[in-house]
Amino acid sequence: MTERIVLAYSGGLDTSVAIGWIGEATGAEVIAVAVDVGQGGESLETIRQRALGCGAVEAYVADASDEFANEYAMPTLKANALYQGHYPLVSAISRPVIVKHLVKAAREFGATTVAHGCTGKGNDQVRFEVGIQTLGPDLKCIAPVRDLALTRDKAIAFAEEKGLPIETTKKNPYSIDQNVWGRAVETGYLEDIWNAPTKDIYDYTATPEFPPAPDEVTISFEAGVPVAIDGVRVTPLQAIKELNRRAGAQGVGRIDVVEDRLVGIKSREIYEAPGAMALITAHKHLEDITIEREQARFKATVGQRWAELVYDGQWFSPLKRSLDAFIEDTQKYVSGDIRMVLHGGQAIVNGRRSETSLYDFDLATYDTGDTFDQSMAKGFIELWGMSAKVASGRDIRVQGQ
Ligand code: ARG
Repeated sequence: MTERIVLAYSGGLDTSVAIGWIGEATGAEVIAVAVDVGQGGESLETIRQRALGCGAVEAYVADASDEFANEYAMPTLKANALYQGHYPLVSAISRPVIVKHLVKAAREFGATTVAHGCTGKGNDQVRFEVGIQTLGPDLKCIAPVRDLALTRDKAIAFAEEKGLPIETTKKNPYSIDQNVWGRAVETGYLEDIWNAPTKDIYDYTATPEFPPAPDEVTISFEAGVPVAIDGVRVTPLQAIKELNRRAGAQGVGRIDVVEDRLVGIKSREIYEAPGAMALITAHKHLEDITIEREQARFKATVGQRWAELVYDGQWFSPLKRSLDAFIEDTQKYVSGDIRMVLHGGQAIVNGRRSETSLYDFDLATYDTGDTFDQSMAKGFIELWGMSAKVASGRDIRVQGQ
């Protein structure tokens, strides 16, 4: 029986050419797998037809936008995950859901190998292949750009020679990856890290120099998940989309960073994640009133480690799973409303309320009638400083100063 390979298919030039390229190089039949993670653009049916037109023997298409929002974006929100303090893991969280569908398709169509369109220099090859190793340990991986010398020039020549139903002239100087959680743009002019991004790079956000009137929004959460916007019930996917629209119109969520890739390269990336950044800001502020201090401090460390694991392609790892359990436990009381103003590229919280809040007005108030007994502070400070005081006494004794 002819060997079968499932290919992660975007509908773009490189993966369209990869169908025939892999076929010629390996003799295998190629099954195209297209997964909708809320990236917008062409319909799944258009993509399916193109895959078949480019020589795929079968095309598997899946609308995974709700699955992605519920099972990938929401854990990222609960973790307040920002890699290196900036990047909300847009591409990093889409790879595992695509991997799930690749493995599913491989089983359905009896494939032995999984192919993807990544280069040998980035993080995504790692995320795909580590994911495949974990979910389908018997499956092999192949990357035509990396392993079968499929360069851009060769891809264009191949598409023209074979008359593939795909545009080859449209020259986009950037490499773009997008989904409902955000958009990543790199390469070309941006590789000079002193160059400021030009306006044409952006798509999810408007340029905030001439902002529209401020937009005040109230986001309601239940156990760490957004459930309503301005009182209207929403699913996680709807919440992200609505905030992409409203925060995006105000230029919220633009990020320009040089980040540390897993393969040891520092690389410049421009992100736009209006919905994600507005949600993370709101969620963090709700945690500030609903999570106990020590748990909150520790959670910040856990969230950072979680972001690193996910960035590094360890979505399906045991440590990531254990951290998920911790994070989930912290979200029990993260319910309530956050009011924020979206304006001039910023999302600024200006009100919060929660039935499960730890904010105690009577303890906090400086007005008369507060219930905090200030006389307790004196003894507390004495004991709190005791250990450092004893150590400093020793220093003076030993060093004689
Ligand atoms: N640097 C990001 C990451 O590793 C995004 C990579 C997405 N690719 C792109 N073509 N911009 O997660």
